[in-house]
Amino acid sequence: MNRTAFVICLGLLASQLIVPRSGIAQRKTAVSDGQKAEALLGRMTLDEKIGQMTQVTLGVVATPVDGVLDPAALKKAIDGYKVGSILNVTNHALTADQWHKVLSEIQDEASKTRLKIPILYGLDGIHGQTYTLNSTLFPQNIGMAATRNTGLVADAAKVTAKELRASGVRWNFAPVLDCGRQPLWSRFAETYGEDVFIGKSMGAAAIKSYEEDGLRSPTAVGSCLKHYLGYSASRTGKDRTPIYLPEIEMREYYLPQFRAAVEAGASSLMVNSGEINGVPVHASKYLLTDVLRKELGFQGVIVTDWEDIIRLHTRHYVASTPREAVAMAVNAGIDMSMVPMDFSFFILLKEAVGKGEVPMSRIDDAVKRILTLKYKLGLFDDPYPEKAAAANFGRPEYQALALNAAQEAMTLLKNDGHLLPLSRNTRVLVAGPAAQSISALNGCWSYTWQGQQEQWYPEDSKTILQTVIAKIGASRVLTTTGKGFDNPMNTDTTGLVAAATNADVILLCLGENAYAESPGNTRDLALPEEQVNLAKAAASTGKPVILVLTEGRPRLITGIEPRMKGILMAYWCGRKSAEAISDVLFGDYNPDGRLPFSYPRSMGEMVLYDRKPTEDIREIFNANMTMDGYNPLFPFGWGLSYTTFEYGRILLSSDRIKGDGKLAVSIPVKNTGSMAGKTTVELYSHEQYASITPNMRRLRAFKKIFLKAGESKTVVFTLDRKDLAFVNAALKTVTEPGTFDLIIADQKASFAYTP
Ligand code: BGC
Repeated sequence: MNRTAFVICLGLLASQLIVPRSGIAQRKTAVSDGQKAEALLGRMTLDEKIGQMTQVTLGVVATPVDGVLDPAALKKAIDGYKVGSILNVTNHALTADQWHKVLSEIQDEASKTRLKIPILYGLDGIHGQTYTLNSTLFPQNIGMAATRNTGLVADAAKVTAKELRASGVRWNFAPVLDCGRQPLWSRFAETYGEDVFIGKSMGAAAIKSYEEDGLRSPTAVGSCLKHYLGYSASRTGKDRTPIYLPEIEMREYYLPQFRAAVEAGASSLMVNSGEINGVPVHASKYLLTDVLRKELGFQGVIVTDWEDIIRLHTRHYVASTPREAVAMAVNAGIDMSMVPMDFSFFILLKEAVGKGEVPMSRIDDAVKRILTLKYKLGLFDDPYPEKAAAANFGRPEYQALALNAAQEAMTLLKNDGHLLPLSRNTRVLVAGPAAQSISALNGCWSYTWQGQQEQWYPEDSKTILQTVIAKIGASRVLTTTGKGFDNPMNTDTTGLVAAATNADVILLCLGENAYAESPGNTRDLALPEEQVNLAKAAASTGKPVILVLTEGRPRLITGIEPRMKGILMAYWCGRKSAEAISDVLFGDYNPDGRLPFSYPRSMGEMVLYDRKPTEDIREIFNANMTMDGYNPLFPFGWGLSYTTFEYGRILLSSDRIKGDGKLAVSIPVKNTGSMAGKTTVELYSHEQYASITPNMRRLRAFKKIFLKAGESKTVVFTLDRKDLAFVNAALKTVTEPGTFDLIIADQKASFAYTP
């Protein structure tokens, strides 16, 4: 059957299955996707059902040549094992045309099967469409969080959706909703940082944008919340190592993002590969069924993470056989298994159903959810890459958006003596491993999983060195660096000291090269010794040193910080990182990023901003104590500007909130400097006394505003009791009567809440 015939056939199949004979218009509205799925389910064999629950990686059906499928392997997977879903790349990103070919061949194969159920293809578009060459990469979530601009998050997600769909892919394994409270974690960059409210609001914005206008829209993709739950909280900081999480902490800091995401309408969810309190999440009926399905009301598809079912047997040792692992996970609530390297799941689940270890009702429930998603995505209408979507790839305006996002992420941590912005007459020595690296500006999930292979980045990708030259001309720029992060030239202290003689400032580009997941595990957050030595050598020249940090997590810089005159936190900001860095350095962009985490001072000083009161106290002897327990190198919310903002008094609409009443909180903000700029007004709350120890502060709202030099604006927030809630000892989210302080910048006001 050719492609058009397949599409017609799918349409007919859907309409015949469900529709009362009463006209096309009515057909479309009368029958829900769930009902269509139900009807199709009724015609399926056990093999066909289990196949739908099976997801394999592209490598299983491809040749070793990237973008070339193996027809026999494809037939075996789709016809033989009836797999319903495929994911991933074999090695690196493909062109959009290659994706069209690959996906068309895959759907062609599906069209030859008895029920012609289309394949659901999923990819990791984490910070832009990772796996299509020349796609637009945005800042990692950690950088997006620094922008404090939820609108930008939505816009970037829309472009990601468009570029995925333009590539023919309708399912995105994003957003990451793990809360970044453990800076050692190798996936810290994928998080929105340590704050729950930022994670909640940005995650929900991304989801709404991915799924905007319904999943049939050629500009939408199905989102996938991940990694449910608590993945980021591993005790050692190493990826996929045990998490010990009291339920009160889980509900306060890790669950709210998922609750908000479910409310935002997310269509699928991926499970945490780790274990919590000794229970692998893939085997946790409590978390997957009781909490996620029953309490949160999640209706979408629950997919495992990579190979995580068999690992219940091979790594976690809670299932004594592979079949027990399969039964355990499916009974806990898993709908689809990212197997992904073989068909063992299919075989074992079939056996388990045969032996009555997994009830048919559970299989039907899972398959119905998967089929419903496929209907919603329009795959039954037309599973092929859509013409209407293809034109949305790589549009010029995406580059402007990527630049804007990177600019707004840039966080100026230090600027002694207003050294920055630099004049264009400055002679700059550009040094350090990140000076001529593209991968160190982009990080994980950038055209390859690890993001390190620079040959796959777009040709117009720029290094920091190149953008500095573009600003001030080659004659004013010196460098002691070579191409690539690990080039030995980059850490040569002697060369640096010698070259500094002819420079006015040293731009020292340090940090981390790209890494993803477990390969990014580290034993120590300290910046590598050779980088520290380079910083010391730079400082020893007596020339002012500006440190640019390109890194996915806060590497410790406490020892060198006092000797740096300027520090710019650049995170991993995607395709336009270098341009944004230079725009800030030379004053073409006034920085407005704010730290989305507390930059730790040392391994022993990793207190977070929303700490408990006793974390503030440093008791020396009885009453002899200080209150400086929260002592990060730079606090959460920190970020300098080239202008100054002054805050007036906070004005409250009332001195109390009663019941469901609302409170208007307004504050005037003035740009008192001489440069236009943006600033984020952050509203924190603090309850004075509560039934469990109150947090010292919690971010409850934020608004980013733009002010011309001399301009004032009044920012208004509206709060109600829900904005002040916390999880109490009975694990309920409550707002207790009491006195609350509201803190905005250096201003404070108080009010009372009564039920
Ligand atoms: C990661 C997921 C990702 C999956 C598929 C896993 O290793 O943990 O975040 O979605 O691979 O690529």
